[in-house]
Amino acid sequence: MATYPSVRYVDRSCQRGPSRGRAFTTGARVGVIPEEMRLLVSETTAVVILAAGEGTRMKSRTPKVLHTLAGRSLLGHAIAAAGDLEPRRLVVVVGHAKEQVSAAAVAAAPEAAIVVQEHQLGTGHAMRMVIESLGVMPGTVVVTYGDMPLLRGRTLSELAGRHAQAGNAATVLTAHGEFPGFGRIVRDADGAFLRIVEERDASEAERAIDEFNSGCYAFDGALLADAIKRVTTSNSQHEEYLTDVVEILRGDGHQVGTVLAADPAEITGVNDRVQLAQARRTLNDRILTDWMLAGVTIVDPASTWVDATVTIGMDAEIGPQVQLTGATAIGEGATIGPGCLLEDTTVGEDAVLLHAVCRQSQVGPRVTIGPFAYLRPGASIAADAHIGTYVELKKAHVGPGAKVPHLTYVGDATIGSGSNIGAGTIFANYDGAAKHHTEVGENAFIGSNTVLVAPVEIGDGAYTAAGSAITENVPAGDLGVSRGRQHNSDGWVLRNRPESRSATAAKRARSE
Ligand code: UD1
Ligand code: CA
Repeated sequence: MATYPSVRYVDRSCQRGPSRGRAFTTGARVGVIPEEMRLLVSETTAVVILAAGEGTRMKSRTPKVLHTLAGRSLLGHAIAAAGDLEPRRLVVVVGHAKEQVSAAAVAAAPEAAIVVQEHQLGTGHAMRMVIESLGVMPGTVVVTYGDMPLLRGRTLSELAGRHAQAGNAATVLTAHGEFPGFGRIVRDADGAFLRIVEERDASEAERAIDEFNSGCYAFDGALLADAIKRVTTSNSQHEEYLTDVVEILRGDGHQVGTVLAADPAEITGVNDRVQLAQARRTLNDRILTDWMLAGVTIVDPASTWVDATVTIGMDAEIGPQVQLTGATAIGEGATIGPGCLLEDTTVGEDAVLLHAVCRQSQVGPRVTIGPFAYLRPGASIAADAHIGTYVELKKAHVGPGAKVPHLTYVGDATIGSGSNIGAGTIFANYDGAAKHHTEVGENAFIGSNTVLVAPVEIGDGAYTAAGSAITENVPAGDLGVSRGRQHNSDGWVLRNRPESRSATAAKRARSE
């Protein structure tokens, strides 16, 4: 990547998305700010995210902007997109459910400045609150919304870059398409941009215009601060419209312009759960496409869900019915699915997971898991180990090459390298009051249906007999046996079940 003196261009999430990762290594390609714009973008003083609205159509106890898709809240996506501009200041305007929304904003971006807009008196009012509390922000101020999760960081960057390049006072991001309820872009006979008219305030002819206001803008901060004071509420909603700032600046003789979004879908807002599902699908398709182009096989994109925060190595194969969430990272050549849910889980290269649920776990290279295994938080499986069918692990470390093949619960335990845990083994970690740890050494052999009652230690190379309830340590090389000695009652069936098929079979066998 080319470097620029005095410009810190670091895509903070470069390890996070496929297009970003690729772009980071190859220079300006898909998903990055065009090189000529980087210097201009670096001048972005602030990104302001408007997120004070209520969002009643979600019909939810959760504030609208905190509904999630692809591993981030709506607001989280806006913050991630804003982060791509590396603004000197990130501002989030909150109002409805302000405690919850500001807490989420600060969790996603600790550097964010929170401005409270107590009453939602319009987008212009929201911006006035920002300037009244933070003062004039000279340089480029970008405005975006907390409910536009499909908006790409690079689109905002392009908006800011073109704005600065043209030396505009205001630049509006617009799109063609179907956006009922959105403001229209009014132009003169020569096509020069005049103003934005809200649908409610538009004439019949203006409503027919098919260029829409996204609600995202780049402003000259000083001119914005001056114009915002002159916005009135003389409109059908008696609100302060941020859109009016553009017209005011043009009236003052300043240059204003537009940038047309290449992908109109980016400017769709989410207002109800139908739109949330549509946005989730669109975002997921975008994520899967990026990974496929980065060398990942996705067998069934329709049933595969991958969060924006996940990473996948080249030549990994993701089968049908797989969901990868949170900080999950899949190594090169790994095979995941069919039927896996992985949450904050790291998978090493060439591992194979089939019908597995893994949460906050680490899976080493070449490990095989499943079908039907459950790795609960704190499971870590070292290289070449095998976890088989109907196995549940919690806070368990399984050493290199060890095997836990069938019907087993491993809780709070360490299993040494090369050990074999027999079918039906239970690591009894809970005594009804507290959890205890079990230690199994290297190359140990736990007989089928052993209960290891923690705290207990099985030494290196030790064995336990099948069916044992092990309550005391088994030293290295010993066999631990803890079960009743077998006694056969001679002819019991012949005496007690004389007419049974078993008795007939036994008589035949005993006479042979
Ligand atoms: C606004 C634009 C419209 C544009 C549309 C795109 C104005 C006057 N109109 O419409 O031209 O096509 O966005 O979606 O700006 N918000 C606040 N405080 C408020 C009001 C809104 O923070 O007082 C936030 C909302 O939470 C939301 C965003 O601003 O994130 C947009 O608000 P919304 O009411 O959906 O937009 P409109 O005003 O209808
Ligand atoms: Ca809206």
